[in-house]
Amino acid sequence: MSQLLIEGRRCLNGELFVQGAKNSVLPILASTVLCKGECIIHNCPELSDVEVTISILEYLGCRVKREGNTITVNSDGIDKDDVPDFLMREMRSSIIFLGALISRIGKVRLSLPGGCELGPRPIDLHIDALKQMGLKVDESHGFMDCETVGRLIGTNIVLSFPSVGATENIILAAVLANGTTTITNAAREPEICDLAEFLNSCGARISGIGESTIIIEGVDNLFGTEHTVIPDRIAAVSYMCVAAVTSGEIILRNTIYDHIGAIIPIFEEAGCMVTNLGEGILKLEAPERPYANKLIRTMPYPGFPTDAQAPVMAMTTVAFGTSMFVENIFESRYKHVGELMRLGADIKVESKVAIVEGVKCLSGASVTATDLRGGAALVIAALAAEGITEIKGLKYIDRGYENIENNLCNLGAKVKRI
Ligand code: UD1
Repeated sequence: MSQLLIEGRRCLNGELFVQGAKNSVLPILASTVLCKGECIIHNCPELSDVEVTISILEYLGCRVKREGNTITVNSDGIDKDDVPDFLMREMRSSIIFLGALISRIGKVRLSLPGGCELGPRPIDLHIDALKQMGLKVDESHGFMDCETVGRLIGTNIVLSFPSVGATENIILAAVLANGTTTITNAAREPEICDLAEFLNSCGARISGIGESTIIIEGVDNLFGTEHTVIPDRIAAVSYMCVAAVTSGEIILRNTIYDHIGAIIPIFEEAGCMVTNLGEGILKLEAPERPYANKLIRTMPYPGFPTDAQAPVMAMTTVAFGTSMFVENIFESRYKHVGELMRLGADIKVESKVAIVEGVKCLSGASVTATDLRGGAALVIAALAAEGITEIKGLKYIDRGYENIENNLCNLGAKVKRI
């Protein structure tokens, strides 16, 4: 089992290129099953979740080729209508294959996604919406057998919460459906826009992209295309936190400033100077010690993203003053708190609220990541801690951060994977 050894308290400076967005590339790769011919997807990060998605595509009968950060998929040879249980369990976002396969072959057998490190992650919104479009679902023995007679039928769907995954599944189901589908209270995350732009370039007719009402006119066929995945806004924010806790100065290339609009004021409140240098380049200059953030509430986009909560909390553990977090999206998204406290952080959690009293210095210890962004929080805290921190549970971090130790070493960190 590999671990990261991090020697903290070094000032980190330099430049790095932000990877492609994990939450874009996964649904885009899944949606290649809808296309005739070849899809060429650029800026695909090397992540374990991407490898699982490729394994699912290969299992289904797609031809997949990876050359560096470009993945080419040809799904003409699909000859399966199920996703095996072990692959479903590897990555819960594999539920996106529901909409994709129903659209492509009208039939799919999936196991129910299991419990999750972020608390229960139900899929009721996905299923209810697809049922409204004509999907029949038979649930037994932990499997869902889903089928549609003929094509799905476009309809008006009102989501009670703007779920990212449900919005994506409905879009995938609707692009080849009969008639028009309208999603009201759709999620507006940039990764959904990226998926919709990709599908439109394959011949889909999706409008209202980035708005809370999305309209999808079903078409008969989709064709292969070439697409570049957007930059990963959460990876960008994580590296901004790295600079903020190490009195660093960092230049990030391949960013979209608007996508992190709700997060920039958090860094400014912490005393960092953030400059948009244009052409996707962002500079952050950190003070000697960050200031606390009075109140951070996680919200659906364009609000403060739940995925940035743990990394930003790591930043506040060493800030001057008291910070408060309210986690509104996931029930159990404070699992990193106990591990941050092993490093000397002073945090109290009561239900959705976490109060962080900044301490002057953390001290290195042995800690374990239990989820992706919580793992990133431990890396950030370790970089601020006196002495050596040993981080286990790297499989979570590797799900979402490409080349994390190389990136950090290039900024001047002492990080070793053993
Ligand atoms: C996606 C992201 C994840 C991010 C999350 C919220 C991917 C691969 N993952 O996850 O990184 O943290 O959006 O921005 O893109 N819910 C229901 N019923 C449903 C669906 C969701 O109750 O059918 C609830 C969830 O339990 C959760 C909330 O809605 O409390 C948000 O979930 P959702 O937006 O669906 O997140 P994911 O798509 O799973």
